[in-house]
Amino acid sequence: MHGDDLYESKAAACEAADNIPNNPDTERSIGAVIAHRHSRRDILKGSLGVTAATALIGANALGAGRAEAQTPARASGLTGAVFEELAGGVDEHHHVAEGYSADVLLRWGDPLFPGMAPFDPLKLTGEEQARRFGYNNDYVALFPLGDTNDRGLLCVNHEYTSPEVMFPGVTRVSLNDFSMITEAHVGVEMAAHGVSVVEIARDSQRWHPVLDSSHNRRITAATPMTIDGPAAGHARLKTSADPSGRRVLGTLNNCAGGNTPWGTYLTTEENFHGYFWTDAKNADGRPNLRGHGGTEAKSYARYRIPSNWYSWGRYDPRFNVDKETNESNRFGWIVEIDPTDPNSTPVKHTALGRFSHEGAECIVNGDGRVVVYSGDDGTFEYIYRFVSKDRYRPDDRVHNMRLLSEGTLSVARFNVDGTLDWLPLVFGEGPLTPENGFHSQADVMIDARIAGDLLKATPMDRPEDIEPGPMAGPSAGKVYAMLTNNAGRKKGNENAANPRAENAFGHIIEMTAPDKDHAAARFTWELLIRCGDPAVAEVGAMWNPSTTANGWFGSPDNCAFDSEGRLWVTTDQGSAWPKTGKADGLYAVGTEGAQRGQSRLFFRVPVGAELCGPYFTPDGETLFVAVQHPATDGVREWKPFGRPSTFADPATRWPDFEPNMPPRPSVLAIRRNGGGRIAS
Ligand code: FEO
Ligand code: CA
Ligand code: CA
Repeated sequence: MHGDDLYESKAAACEAADNIPNNPDTERSIGAVIAHRHSRRDILKGSLGVTAATALIGANALGAGRAEAQTPARASGLTGAVFEELAGGVDEHHHVAEGYSADVLLRWGDPLFPGMAPFDPLKLTGEEQARRFGYNNDYVALFPLGDTNDRGLLCVNHEYTSPEVMFPGVTRVSLNDFSMITEAHVGVEMAAHGVSVVEIARDSQRWHPVLDSSHNRRITAATPMTIDGPAAGHARLKTSADPSGRRVLGTLNNCAGGNTPWGTYLTTEENFHGYFWTDAKNADGRPNLRGHGGTEAKSYARYRIPSNWYSWGRYDPRFNVDKETNESNRFGWIVEIDPTDPNSTPVKHTALGRFSHEGAECIVNGDGRVVVYSGDDGTFEYIYRFVSKDRYRPDDRVHNMRLLSEGTLSVARFNVDGTLDWLPLVFGEGPLTPENGFHSQADVMIDARIAGDLLKATPMDRPEDIEPGPMAGPSAGKVYAMLTNNAGRKKGNENAANPRAENAFGHIIEMTAPDKDHAAARFTWELLIRCGDPAVAEVGAMWNPSTTANGWFGSPDNCAFDSEGRLWVTTDQGSAWPKTGKADGLYAVGTEGAQRGQSRLFFRVPVGAELCGPYFTPDGETLFVAVQHPATDGVREWKPFGRPSTFADPATRWPDFEPNMPPRPSVLAIRRNGGGRIAS
């Protein structure tokens, strides 16, 4: 961060801070220099590099690669997504492919309980916000109720708040100056974070919230939770308010997530470091963010605590590291929520490690163990995998709800020969010993990043969502990792799995479990896509040649499989969208056969937004998407507006377009007009 820099949005300010690499060992290269800028298949074919020539012939070479790859496993009969591709662009509205409707289901501020007044942003208090749909919706999952596809519990993450368009009069966004943010604002912010659980029902095709459902619940930054797993009760998790080290208030920066086969919701704590505050100042008056934590100093430095992104610590001492050293060790975990019981206590599972979790996608392995994949969203951070100790029992929910409490967390090392080793994070093994500062498995989980450094995991280009293919479908045994971008990767510091320097557009890696065994110690991997414009040679993009000018994208973020086993990918370019000239959107991405590496645009967001979710209902007839932070990112670069948005003057008033209503992050339900499965 630089001094008194003002930013056009909260998101832009945090993004700028986030692009400072925090992994001290970004120089590590995993293989021979020959690996630079080549995909594994390129290396195996012995010919291609990411040069002007590659961009011109890369797509065809990719096609040749696919022909070579037509093994029986690939001859799956999976058909591509069928729809008329949407045109790319940027404007004030959302757009969906022809023949589909995208209806607003839940907006920031919508009541979640009966008898509440319609939303009035001028009357919003923390207490009110805690009973209304939260801000910046991210991951979405639906848990069906009953025997039909017409009712369910929708769980939605609320990742962060954008004060410049939430609160009237907050016209300055800076990470050094919070003088415009009041204690009342902070109360609303804390209540606008977390998770919403809302019953929804479908009448004559349209979904709507059921306000008098006893299931409806808001989980916020103040909701009591328990901590379990190897770090529960450890001294480093004890605070003045919780001498047990087993009880914590709230969850925050809930980004992507997952859902379990036993019907629970996994929400992940991503940029938790941004919420921890110090009053210490440098001589120039700027916050002094270094040298805090005492005995936690090494851990603080690796996790970049404090970061002063939010001023909660001015009013609540637990977020102030000058007053409470260990509170930050109680965030950065995966949290399990039982949506069927509104009185249940969410559980933070320390067995899955502490880092900036983007997501937590879950699959039952062939042997019954449960496997969860999660990326650490930071430049040069790692990809992780958790394998449960015990096995899933289809008819024993109580047993299953303990599966994430004990198991083995591993971190990924991508080898130049196309193999991938999962390196277990186990206290006492290898370098994870007292000589290196680890005294227990609790230490290993709390400082998972430091353990990953010592194990020489592969520093990646910002891991976002990671999705295993359904075990029953053609993508069984495959796992897809979205690497969003990493402009900070210097020339000469590329590695086989992150082959481009100054990687502005990101890439997608396909990992393959041998014999569909997600618990195996060694996988194989290859690149599925190098993102960016295939028509610009210097970009070094790699797509199926049938991908159109509308279909290519940059900065993959979230992903999901639909009910037919097809992969869909959303993007988050932040304020860098002018590099593609396209708003963020949802793309159908082929993984098999002739369509492998092909991408087509299905939906796009209004200006300044990113797209989260997506989530397909089991019947394949509804697709939920979450439009996050409309009117904020990159609106200065959008010529029809050309300035930062504020509450009074936003780039778009999506989705209401009412003169006194600010933009509102919202979840949409997309259906095919006249009914039927999406993209079939
Ligand atoms: Fe919250 Fe990595 O996006
Ligand atoms: Ca994300
Ligand atoms: Ca996902």
